[in-house]
Amino acid sequence: MLTALQAHADLATLADTYGSDKASRLPDEETCYPWIAHTYDALYEFLFPTARDSVQRVFECGIGSADENVLSNMGPKGQPGASLRMWRDFFPRAQIVGADIDPNILFQEERISTYLVDQCSPVSVEQLWEAVGPGQFDLMIDDGLHTSDAARSLFEGSIHRLAPTGWYVIEDVLLEQFPDYEAWLEAWPGPKWFAVPDGERWGLIAIRAVEPGSDQGLMHS
Ligand SMILES: C[S@@+](CC[C@H](N)C(=O)[O-])C[C@H]1O[C@@H](n2cnc3c(N)ncnc32)[C@H](O)[C@@H]1O
Repeated sequence: MLTALQAHADLATLADTYGSDKASRLPDEETCYPWIAHTYDALYEFLFPTARDSVQRVFECGIGSADENVLSNMGPKGQPGASLRMWRDFFPRAQIVGADIDPNILFQEERISTYLVDQCSPVSVEQLWEAVGPGQFDLMIDDGLHTSDAARSLFEGSIHRLAPTGWYVIEDVLLEQFPDYEAWLEAWPGPKWFAVPDGERWGLIAIRAVEPGSDQGLMHS
């Protein structure tokens, strides 16, 4: 049962509730990660303005390891599962699937299931989708290793799971690395949108599926 807060909360409030760095309203020193929060909430709320109830499935690579020996970890006070719980509350009817290279942070709870993956390995990505089983996703997020090669491997092995009206978002792309991503994304016939929130050194790439029977995609990039 959702509380009134969860059913109406915005992404930044939910990110603070669970400890995701996607957005925050807290003073910097009160968050559980050692950097300034992103401001990605505006983009996600723009992509899903009124459709919170209709989103059925969300996938995110990057559960949020607090193990400092794991690349791209959230720091020692990190809260594994934070963004998965944030999505679960933000999309009240959705099943949430998470995946990560750290086997110690996998968990199952209400509407959330998680799986092991090394996003750099096409074989591991293929095994992930075998384990998850059939079905497409309304939102797929890469918040994993944050290198162009890793993003490419996950994208190429996973984009077939994006629903025709869905969004695939690659987070935390360093501004100076946008061209590296652009180079391989050029092959994708669907629309791509490169976004950099105000004042951030990092941006996002939002990718749309290609409409069935079309070689244009749903809108022009
Ligand atoms: C920034 S954290 C994710 C934060 C989380 N999405 C949130 O908002 O709370 C990045 C995650 O990527 C995972 N990771 C690093 N390398 C990976 C790889 N090769 N394949 C899959 N996950 C990886 C790390 O273990 C870590 O949990």
